[in-house]
Amino acid sequence: MATGLAVIGSGSAAPKASLNNDGLSKIVDTSDEWISTRTGIRSRYLASPQESLSQLSAIAAQNALSMAQVGATDIDLILLATSTPDDLFGSACQIQAEIGAKHAVAFDLTAACSGFVFGMITAAQFIRTGVYRNVLLIGADVLSRWVDWTDRRSCVLFGDGAGAVVLQANEIDHLLGFALHSDGCLHDCLNVQYQGESRPLTGGINVSQGTYQPISMNGKEVYRFAVNRVPEIVEKALFQAELTTDDIDWLLLHQANQRILDAVAKRLKVPAEKVISNIANYGNTSAATIPLALDATVRQGYIQPGDTIAASGFGAGLSWGAAIFQWQR
Ligand code: COA
Repeated sequence: MATGLAVIGSGSAAPKASLNNDGLSKIVDTSDEWISTRTGIRSRYLASPQESLSQLSAIAAQNALSMAQVGATDIDLILLATSTPDDLFGSACQIQAEIGAKHAVAFDLTAACSGFVFGMITAAQFIRTGVYRNVLLIGADVLSRWVDWTDRRSCVLFGDGAGAVVLQANEIDHLLGFALHSDGCLHDCLNVQYQGESRPLTGGINVSQGTYQPISMNGKEVYRFAVNRVPEIVEKALFQAELTTDDIDWLLLHQANQRILDAVAKRLKVPAEKVISNIANYGNTSAATIPLALDATVRQGYIQPGDTIAASGFGAGLSWGAAIFQWQR
């Protein structure tokens, strides 16, 4: 029984429309200069009302399956890391139906911008225990649905997209190390909070009826958290893998802010040419940033089979995690 795993394919998808910083300046009091110097973001893709999270995810999934040369019916498990499902009961099953993965069990996993890394480690447990052989892991978010488009402090940061990878059981384990963390005491720094009003039913019984509020964020706190905790957790995962930063070919961080990428890379002493960044064109697509950037770098021919990648996701929860793996396609 193969109890290791390999990452053998990637895919991604973005909505059709993109909005650059100049366009955003027509909605809120901001400028291309402010956004690009403070965040590195120049443009972001935004899903139209006709483009669903499930559709974007299905396209990303199909691209990943075709790179991996794995048929949809051979998938045992679909994990959808998202905070913005089309359906609060979960969207993974809709994707399962859409791509025809009729033998797969499918469910959502919510860990905000850490979702992809948390999902990879969850998938690994099923594979390493020999329960499942082929896992399709999708990271997708349509945060534009929950952005306050009048709040210039946050609306400039986010975009929509989907990315996917195929993980397969393998004799050699190419997941070399990982570490995951959560700190709910810092929940107030970043959230999309449910808010409801009391609705009396009968006999003194009241229920709450409402919806989710737009993204609320303390940018400075989140920034501080990221530049402190992310280097720490990457070091921890590398230690588990018995590696150092000198051994990695690529640093693949959640794409939240170019300044965060630069600061983390500096602390880890990873040279800029090893730091993957596509934030300029996508902004922060939450659970999608890591697989989106991975897929682009693979398809551009930069990432080669056997390359060691240190990936780290961080965000709401607060939550953060790192995974060290080798690309195997
Ligand atoms: N355009 C123009 N001015 C803006 C602006 C915008 N889009 N957003 C904020 N400002 C203004 C502020 O009002 C403030 O003005 P003031 O000094 O007159 O009050 C000034 O710019 C500085 O704001 P500040 O919040 O201190 O900026 P900052 O350097 O901390 O950058 C973020 C703000 C959001 C870019 C930065 O804190 C950040 O990236 N944090 C992490 C957020 C994140 O990654 N979240 C997701 C994690 S998964």
